[in-house]
Amino acid sequence: MSAGDTHRICLLDGDGIGPEVVAAAAAVLSAVIPRLESTRARIGFGVYEELGTPLPRETVDAVRSADATLFGAVTTPPGIPGYRSPILALRQDLQLFANVRPVRARGASSPALDLVIVRENTEGLYAGRERREGDTAIAERVVTRAASERIVRYALDLARARPRRRLTIVHKANVLRETCGLFREVALELAADWPDVETNELLVDAAAMELIRDPGRFDVIVTTNLFGDILSDEAAALAGGLGLACSANVGRDAAIFEPVHGSAPDIAGTGAANPLAAILSAAMLLAHLGEADAARRVEAAVEQVLASGPRTPDLGGTAGTAEITDAVIAALDR
Ligand code: NAI
Ligand code: MG
Repeated sequence: MSAGDTHRICLLDGDGIGPEVVAAAAAVLSAVIPRLESTRARIGFGVYEELGTPLPRETVDAVRSADATLFGAVTTPPGIPGYRSPILALRQDLQLFANVRPVRARGASSPALDLVIVRENTEGLYAGRERREGDTAIAERVVTRAASERIVRYALDLARARPRRRLTIVHKANVLRETCGLFREVALELAADWPDVETNELLVDAAAMELIRDPGRFDVIVTTNLFGDILSDEAAALAGGLGLACSANVGRDAAIFEPVHGSAPDIAGTGAANPLAAILSAAMLLAHLGEADAARRVEAAVEQVLASGPRTPDLGGTAGTAEITDAVIAALDR
């Protein structure tokens, strides 16, 4: 895929503020690349209530056949037996093995922060192997050479494409000698084949502390599933919180771009949702499609709006979703 091709994207609204932020991001996408073709597919709890499944087969097909997908958020109510979050199901069914979260200081926060967390998205402690044996609960942590290799390769390629070309391998191999031991071994082996990327390693607890103490030292971080989940929320908090946190789930045959936040039922329908996380996710989608210039224009427009306002309530302002979206679109050509 490259700039100038006609791209086909799939829009997945979901529940709560999902449709509101996807509409905002879709408006920005059409403003920046008018020739985008988009389809819509249904996902989430609302669909479950209507059809008995939160992830109709047509939706999986639509995501698989699109060049890229933009997803809002879904509501996943606890306590429904057998109910599985449809976004988790999509990540697993489509083998979207890389969860990618860029974290950059935007607007007022610390200027030194510009890092990407690359998290293994298919195994580790989230492999789903948990059980009870009487009063003992056991979770099995699964780490394979194949999954470790593909995530580390992805992170090395990403680091190579960035100005600082640095990769930090985060693990806890001093305690988890087999699982983290294998991940570390594979990562160090592969790093030797990317001599232009400067690689170092850090224990996960030290990494959590360093992210607060000196976040500017990090460029690309690669780690296993649970560690990546925790560190990426920590890092997002350093850079403006959920209203700005964007992400990608990338596999060989499909890619889904989504704000990190959930369906925010507390503000759904009020028009107060911050659309910037979804808009920044759309910028990642553009970069994935090979539209680097368009991606940069969207990012620059978001920077401008953050610098000069308006702002939504989560960032201390009083503006609504539509006002922010219009401001971003107006800033595209400045
Ligand atoms: P949440 O991210 O939806 O909301 C947490 C808090 O942040 C709320 O106060 C909300 O109003 C605020 N917030 C979130 N996004 C915002 C935005 N764009 N602008 C302004 N404020 C925003 O997380 P919560 O409340 O834990 O979960 C709500 C529902 O979302 C649950 O059903 C949960 O399962 C689901 N969820 C879905 C995710 C997904 O679809 N990927 C991710 C996380 C949660
Ligand atoms: Mg999380």
